Amino acid sequence: MSVSTEQTRTGTAPEPTGPTSPIDYAQKIPNNVDLATDRRLQRALEGWQPKFIDWWQQLGPAIPTRDVYLRTAVAVGRDGWAHFDYVPMEEYRWGIFLAEADPDRTIAFGDHKGEPAWQTVPGEYRADLLRLITVQGDTEPASVEQQRQLGATAPSLYDMRNLFQVNVEEGRHLWAMVYLLHAFFGREGREEAEQLLKRNSGDADSPRILGAFNEDTTDWLQFFMFTYFTDRDGKYQLGTLKESAFDPLARTCEFMLKEEAHHMFVGTTGVQRTVERTAQLMQEHGTEDIWAFGGIPLAVIQKYLNFQFAVSMDLFGSEQSSNAGKYYTSGLKGRWGETKRKDDHVLHGATRTMRTVEGGAIVERQVPLLNALNLDLRDEYVADCENGVRRWNQALEDAGLSERLTLPHEGFFRKVGTYAGHCVTPEGEVVEAEEFAAKLTDWVPTPEDRAAVAALMVPVYEPGEFAGWIAAPPQGINQQSVEFDYVRFES
Ligand SMILES: [Fe+2]
Ligand SMILES: [Fe+2]
Repeated sequence: MSVSTEQTRTGTAPEPTGPTSPIDYAQKIPNNVDLATDRRLQRALEGWQPKFIDWWQQLGPAIPTRDVYLRTAVAVGRDGWAHFDYVPMEEYRWGIFLAEADPDRTIAFGDHKGEPAWQTVPGEYRADLLRLITVQGDTEPASVEQQRQLGATAPSLYDMRNLFQVNVEEGRHLWAMVYLLHAFFGREGREEAEQLLKRNSGDADSPRILGAFNEDTTDWLQFFMFTYFTDRDGKYQLGTLKESAFDPLARTCEFMLKEEAHHMFVGTTGVQRTVERTAQLMQEHGTEDIWAFGGIPLAVIQKYLNFQFAVSMDLFGSEQSSNAGKYYTSGLKGRWGETKRKDDHVLHGATRTMRTVEGGAIVERQVPLLNALNLDLRDEYVADCENGVRRWNQALEDAGLSERLTLPHEGFFRKVGTYAGHCVTPEGEVVEAEEFAAKLTDWVPTPEDRAAVAALMVPVYEPGEFAGWIAAPPQGINQQSVEFDYVRFES
């Protein structure tokens, strides 16, 4: 497609919808973007839809179910957007939902600060925006693929339902990005949308773009750590895109963040319930070695935590990145909580400290803030991660135990950024490679640890019953009881 037709194309992109913007479920593709008024876009997306369903059937949840008690978005406004009901998984209404438009929205940061937000893609930023949306889009189906087998070992129907809720919403997040690709990026966008279904997690020839999304989700503890640490990275990335000068992207990400809150909940409470059960078994038997009693030792929970934290920290990219600065200055990506920050929102000349390894020690350096925005975001993320750890430690304290979980040092086990190639212990000590290698089995899960955890992953499909390694939740979903039949099978 030539540049001039492309401009016409982006010029006819759907108008921002009004503040009420109800979701139209009469459509083949539920949406609140007036898809019916743009036949060409509608046809293109309807052409992609069967490919998505194919992908879902091949690489979505592997365990056959009749229906699942799921929430579906019915409106994007502040007052009640979710509807709960039993839905056969393949009939879930994946759709396109953008947060309400603010017609007066202006750009909050960078060189375009104060100008009206963009409703179309400026030519000079087209390639960068296409890349940002593609990378975000690639993570969404990846996690569904990673979690494909977990239903077979769900510790309860309550947990299985939560897994499937996360899965369908990650599928919807893929739709969210594919809508932007189709609506605003012409043929290139459509080609990227095809590729999002062709790359697959862990595929030797055509893997997902980012490392953490090619790791196996081996068991439910890993899944809870993933939803806690890796979905939380997603939350922070979406937080920066929610500030974007490109308004359709900002509104898309704003609504995705509402769904993401449930994924955070699954991670926080999943780890918490595991820790509670572990604490209970430690108390009962007066030992840390609770394998024999069907629990996961705290030391192994710590190893899972260390691993998932480190791979998720890598997702933020290099601490120093001229690209991050460029994205900020051009208005594509803001900072977390941009409008709440008390500075000039332009950042020329501003500096901050950054830690790095020099001469075998961790030292602090002053660096230009604009170059260190990945680090700025990562610091916000780490502070958030600490909240969960505090909460889990409260469960240990409540059980009268003195053991505690900790976040490892930011430099531990890193493959990306300033710490890559250095050997930093979880306590933050720089050591020789030999010493590090000798102790690594104490710090991250060994194949034996994973096998022992996997051995505890027995499926429990009786309503209200839970596997022995995890505590029951204090309450059910959407005010249903814990005993509610959250997932139904073919009889
Ligand atoms: Fe997502
Ligand atoms: Fe998520």
